Amino acid sequence: MPRWRPPKVNIWRGPLRHLPRRLSRLLPKGLYPRSLIIIIAPMVLLQSVVAFVFMERHWQTVTQRLSTAVVRDIAAIIDVIDTYPQDADFAQVVRIARERLDLNVAVLPLEALPAPAPKPFFNILDGILSEEITKQIARPFWIDTVGNSKLVEIRILLDHNMLRVFARRNSAYASNTHIFLIWMVGTSLVLLTIAILFLRNQIRPIQKLAEAAEGFGRGQPMPPDFRPRGASEVRRASLAFIQMRDRIERQIEQRTAMLAGVSHDLRTILTRFRLQLALVGNEEDQRELNADVDEMQRMLEGYLAFAKGEGEEDVAEIDLEAVFARFASEAKLKEKKLETDIVGDPRIVARPDAFARLLGNLVANAMRHGDHVSVIAKHEGRWLTITVEDDGPGIAAEQREEVFKPFVRLDTARNIDAGGTGLGLSIARDIARSHGGDILLSDSELGGLRAMVRIPA
Ligand SMILES: Nc1ncnc2c1ncn2[C@@H]1O[C@H](COP(=O)(O)OP(=O)(O)OP(=O)(O)O)[C@@H](O)[C@H]1O
Ligand SMILES: [Mg+2]
Repeated sequence: MPRWRPPKVNIWRGPLRHLPRRLSRLLPKGLYPRSLIIIIAPMVLLQSVVAFVFMERHWQTVTQRLSTAVVRDIAAIIDVIDTYPQDADFAQVVRIARERLDLNVAVLPLEALPAPAPKPFFNILDGILSEEITKQIARPFWIDTVGNSKLVEIRILLDHNMLRVFARRNSAYASNTHIFLIWMVGTSLVLLTIAILFLRNQIRPIQKLAEAAEGFGRGQPMPPDFRPRGASEVRRASLAFIQMRDRIERQIEQRTAMLAGVSHDLRTILTRFRLQLALVGNEEDQRELNADVDEMQRMLEGYLAFAKGEGEEDVAEIDLEAVFARFASEAKLKEKKLETDIVGDPRIVARPDAFARLLGNLVANAMRHGDHVSVIAKHEGRWLTITVEDDGPGIAAEQREEVFKPFVRLDTARNIDAGGTGLGLSIARDIARSHGGDILLSDSELGGLRAMVRIPA
């Protein structure tokens, strides 16, 4: 007969599949709280185990032994009272108990036991003592372990009398146990404080590095007090970041300088060319040549703008309403319909010239291709999103990456000779990315193109 085997269940595939993700969602995200947990969790675990074992074994056992001894003494006294004839006031027994057994004993006339005293929530003494009395003496009794903090009162019904005993609490109970616990918790608090102080110092350089890198991505200047600090790995990362930043800045500078140089040289020649053109006759030829020169001039301006795109400009506060007002007058001039809207704070922080060029390029494109243009800005939290839409022909999905390349124009193929260099979108994307954002193209509900800029601001 085939043996039954339990079905194979891979718990990580089955019910626990989501556990790691859920756990990591519950855990704090920051490095600081995470490191604290790494320190605190083992400490708490260790202490709980130690405390539990200690309570269970030591505390319980010692209390048990002490209580047994006290009850044994009381049992002996009861035996003496029962066995030997006593004086009327039981003076000898009371004396022996006081002097030899450290018990305050009184033999009282018989009366009913009081109602049981309320039991405290956590009191092992009461339980152990009751158990021992039941076991060793086996007579009706009443105990109060709470009323008087230093003493424990026990009343036992004898055949003709009632025995009342006051025992010292610490002779029946391992009473200085809490000192151990206080020491344990106290030392761990001290350790924790030290750990927090040290950790803070270790983590601050990492936070500073993250801030500096974020700021650099947004084109903000480096914080003046940024220096490689902290543990050697963090120091290495900071140093690498500084070197990388320097290299990138140097590269940008070189590119800018070269492009500016080339454009400038060509512009000089172009001016000379235009002059010479004015000197030769034939108006018809002249006009066409002049138009070509104009176009070349415009292209050169484009190069220069491209080169300047990532210049040294510093960030500043920009008022979006002012920027949009400029677009409105431009639309009026070109007789286009323009809608604008700003949701959230109209003040943003960016590089003013670059930002104006970025938006200007998108709006100019929209106004060139469509008659109805809408520009909507949303400033929510750390992000600014600006959507520029038009009702023109739009751009086919497969060409939307292509048009971001420098000098790529679709207009020539579409036979619109509106004279552009094809640099507008690449400049715009360059600027968006240097601010730590990007541009996305999609279909607009107006029928044309939707260009969405998203930058942290
Ligand atoms: N809103 C738009 N609707 C339709 N096509 C567009 C739109 N915006 C850009 N394009 C297409 O993308 C091409 C590239 O745009 P880009 O802005 O880079 O260059 P350009 O406008 O031709 O020249 P420049 O902006 O340098 O004057 C354009 O030639 C045009 O065909
Ligand atoms: Mg353009």
